[in-house]
Amino acid sequence: MCGIVGAIAQRNIVPVLLQGLQRLEYRGYDSAGLAVVHNRQLQRVRSTGRVAELTKSSANTSGHLGIAHTRWATHGVPSERNAHPHLSNELIAVVHNGIIENYEEIRARLTAQNYIFTSDTDSEVIAHLIHSHYVRNHNLLLATQAALAELVGAYAIGVVAADNDTHMICARKGSPLLLGVGKGEHFIASDVSALLSVTKNVVYLEEGDVAEISLHGYRIFNAQGVAVERPVHISEMSSESVELGEYRHYMQKEIHEQPQALADTLEGVCNSQTLVPGIFGAEAAATFAQIDSLLILACGTSHHAGMVARYWLEEIAGIPCTVEIASEYRYRVSVANPKTLVVTISQSGETADTLAALNHAKSLGHNHTLSICNVPESALVRLSKLRLLTRAGPEIGVASTKAFTTQLAALFLLTLVLAKLRGRLGKEEEQRHLHALRHLPSAAQAVLKLEPEIAHLAEHFADKQHALFLGRGLHYPIALEGALKLKEISYIHAEAYPAGELKHGPLALVDKDMPVIAVAPNDALLEKLKSNLQEVRARGGELYVFADAGTRLQSSAGVHLMQMPEHAGYLSPILHTIALQLLAYYVALKKGTDVDKPRNLAKSVTVE
Ligand code: G6P
Repeated sequence: MCGIVGAIAQRNIVPVLLQGLQRLEYRGYDSAGLAVVHNRQLQRVRSTGRVAELTKSSANTSGHLGIAHTRWATHGVPSERNAHPHLSNELIAVVHNGIIENYEEIRARLTAQNYIFTSDTDSEVIAHLIHSHYVRNHNLLLATQAALAELVGAYAIGVVAADNDTHMICARKGSPLLLGVGKGEHFIASDVSALLSVTKNVVYLEEGDVAEISLHGYRIFNAQGVAVERPVHISEMSSESVELGEYRHYMQKEIHEQPQALADTLEGVCNSQTLVPGIFGAEAAATFAQIDSLLILACGTSHHAGMVARYWLEEIAGIPCTVEIASEYRYRVSVANPKTLVVTISQSGETADTLAALNHAKSLGHNHTLSICNVPESALVRLSKLRLLTRAGPEIGVASTKAFTTQLAALFLLTLVLAKLRGRLGKEEEQRHLHALRHLPSAAQAVLKLEPEIAHLAEHFADKQHALFLGRGLHYPIALEGALKLKEISYIHAEAYPAGELKHGPLALVDKDMPVIAVAPNDALLEKLKSNLQEVRARGGELYVFADAGTRLQSSAGVHLMQMPEHAGYLSPILHTIALQLLAYYVALKKGTDVDKPRNLAKSVTVE
């Protein structure tokens, strides 16, 4: 989704802006642009396509103050004229992330005042609106505050004025934005990865904050216009953690980082002899004692993690659990139970629908909230009473991999803690689960050894248009996740079904051109699944079966068997998902798609 970078320094900031944009490429975008203030003029460069194009076109641009943007089209096609920054009368330049809901009304009003619109975006109204105030008060901070008061919707913005080379204004509401604090230079960015080469000291803006930034300092005002202090955090993210290193793609790198990411997420727990609620926060024990059910809210891959967790929570902890897509929940009339623990799951912690769903739940009277998130300072974490941070590290590939498996690890911990508090986990069993968790990173490592075999298997998919994924029980959500990975990065239409549903519809699709991928661990449902697979074979469908070590299934004509290194019991979804990630990755490689930045998709969906 859109990315913002801005800088004010004594040096030429164009390379800083471009490097920042490069680091934000992973968020997903289709065009890019920058504007710098130079000799009381705005110099703007925009281009469609990659930041590399913008870099070429910016060769002759320089300045000490500027803003830059990667755009993910919402209003108006991806094109140079719709790319940011948007200018008003060569005086004001604005970059915007988010959606302005009342832009049509403002646009009509400003058009009547002779403002000329040159784009189809909602964002351009912000530039003209600020301009309309600035020509009256000549104060960029006040003009921006006045303009923001008229906007309905979500935004993170950066603003500069041609006749003001000493200040930049920024603001956030509903979309992420932070300040970078350097020595005699300051920055703004959508996320910290954009600033790692210039500073690690960051200030996260709160909802409604507006900031005025200069060379030597910054002032922050809250939504009421009152000056406020926000703490400076030192980011733990390293520059290397967002470099590609020896890998061909970030997705491949991140698939391979899973053993370490799991080990890091489980570190505190695996080193101790017993599970305690405190890992979810100081108030966890008291909160968990009051709850009688769970409601899990998330989007995309994170929603699949929730679906797996439901099987664990109901079976192991014996607690009722509902899992819902955040964007549906937020608009549905639902019946709130104040004893429900609302669990939000998110890699970024900035997904607009998940944040809105959490706020909606709170508005219905849900006070018990827990987030499972990969970004410590994200809005989601700050909005939740309890939290467990996954420690996957920065995930750059748009298709989520290590974030998902670490979410599963975190949700398994939640299951065990709740099971224990509810008297459903004996000492021995607790030790057995802890042992399995300690072993998980090496089990994940063993799955990665299947990479060459899976790469070979992927060759069968390069010319396919469709694929069907099947799973049962705990592994049905893994089939969903496998299908999602394949469609996201290889553009093959893929669907997933619980295998028992096969004959209620999807069987009609099965023929020799429809590969069927089955997730078939050695569990109680294997025999049932075997019958489903025979139904596929009988219709000429090619089967690709991901089974466990020691499986009773065998390869035969039209049945390609891939054996996982072991059967990991309850943790089996984590291992099987790694194999399916590799499959999607190698199919995409064969198809030559842009693996890390698949068309039309964004990493962090900060608009509705
Ligand atoms: C986007 C990403 C997905 C991700 C989903 C939810 O669609 O491309 O990979 O699963 O958003 O994101 P979150 O950050 O909330 O987990």
